[in-house]
This record gives sequence, C-alpha cells and structure tokens, in this order.
Amino acid sequence: MNIRRNVSWLVALISSLVLMLTACSQSGTSATGASESGAASGGGDAKALVVYFSRTKGIEGGDLDIGHTKRVAMFIKDYMKADEYEIVPAKDYPDTYDETVEVAEKELDSDARPEIKNPLPDVSGYDTVFVGAPVWYDEYPKIIETFLDGVDLKGKTIVPFVTHEGSEMGGVQTFMEKKYSGEKVLKGLPIEGPKSAESKDAVEAWLKELGF
Ligand SMILES: Cc1cc2nc3c(=O)[nH]c(=O)nc-3n(C[C@H](O)[C@H](O)[C@H](O)COP(=O)(O)O)c2cc1C
Repeated sequence: MNIRRNVSWLVALISSLVLMLTACSQSGTSATGASESGAASGGGDAKALVVYFSRTKGIEGGDLDIGHTKRVAMFIKDYMKADEYEIVPAKDYPDTYDETVEVAEKELDSDARPEIKNPLPDVSGYDTVFVGAPVWYDEYPKIIETFLDGVDLKGKTIVPFVTHEGSEMGGVQTFMEKKYSGEKVLKGLPIEGPKSAESKDAVEAWLKELGF
C-alpha cells in the first residue's frame, strides 16, 4: 500500500469537503435561478422572493451607482431574509434618458414582451413574491409582463413595489389586482427614485404594516 499517496488523497478529500461546506454556507445563485440569501426565512415565516428590474443608466438626473428600485429591493430582501431575482434584459436599453423613453414608448404601443436574458426562477417554493420596477409611463415596464407571463404565481401572496418621479404607484396596483384577481395582492409601496437610498425605514414600516 502506498501510504504517501493515500495520505495525499485523504488531504485532497478533506480539502474538497471543506470547500463544499464553505460554498454551501455562502450566498449564491441556486439551481432555481434565484440568488439565495443564505437564510431560510425571515420577516415572519414567509419564504419570499424579491424580483426586480432596475437601471443605472437612462435615468433623468444622470447615471447611478445602484438603480433606485434595486436599492428598495435590497431593503426588502434584508428585512425578509428573502432570495432575489434580477430581471436582466436580453437587449439592454439605451444609455440616455431620451433614447430609453423612445424605446419604452414603442414597447408600450406594441404591447411588447421584451426578452429576459437570465433564466426565469423556479417560484414554486415561495409563499410570497415581491415584484419591483421603476414606473414607466405610469405602469410597470413591459419586461415585467414578460416575467409575469413566464411564471406561475397562483396561490402566492404577491406584493408590488415601484420607484417613480411623481406618479406614485401609477396604474401598477390596479394592474396587479386585475391580473391576479384570484390571488392575494397586498398594498404596494411607491418610493420616489432619488429617495430610494434613504428608504430603509419606510420599507420596514410598510412590511410591518403588511404583517411581515
Ligand atoms: C422610459 C421612462 C418612463 C418613465 N415614466 C415615468 C412615469 O410615468 N412616472 C414617474 O413618476 N416616473 C417615470 N419615470 C422615472 C422612473 O420611474 C424613475 O427614475 C425610477 O426611480 C428609476 O428607477 P430605476 O433606477 O430602478 O430604473 C420614467 C423613466 C423612464 C426611463
């Protein structure tokens, strides 16, 4: 028996076990396509997924480090100890506000379903799904409808949230209540885009009010 070879094999096995355990304890993208928070659940017992679309370019007032809606999404994620799924467009929108407006207007007129780049998440294991986006023309951007058409939210608690420049929820709450008339759609949260970085308290107060 070659003892040295056996010892090095054992060392390799232990190292890979340690690596596997480390990987499991860290956050990462799961097989469901959603990025896991690493915690089972929080903010109550609900197993929640925070879905959002958010941009750093093409924003009135200049580029951002982190999109307004993403900031709100992260506050929800932290409080709920939720998983997250970011909607990434297959074809990115233009860098300037004016060009983005043009593209968005065309999508609206044609009732488009812009393609999503990343695989849709498996939502079957979640009780609650938050759906967040900037308000575009008083509504969700059309790519949110691509997402909603691609997943089955039957039997789930659905919670809209938006960032905006004055429209508040616009038509988003009504749209969701109509689309999911058989499901539990909770009262959404509108946050003014430029105030998103300071919205942690407002987000948590809203979640508490909803019973989470
Ligand atoms: C194409 C387009 C349309 C918009 N339409 C509206 C609107 O109807 N009402 C409003 O309050 N804000 C509107 N906005 C502003 C965005 O909702 C706001 O800047 C938002 O906070 C951006 O969030 P984000 O960084 O997550 O993309 C619009 C922005 C764009 C680019």
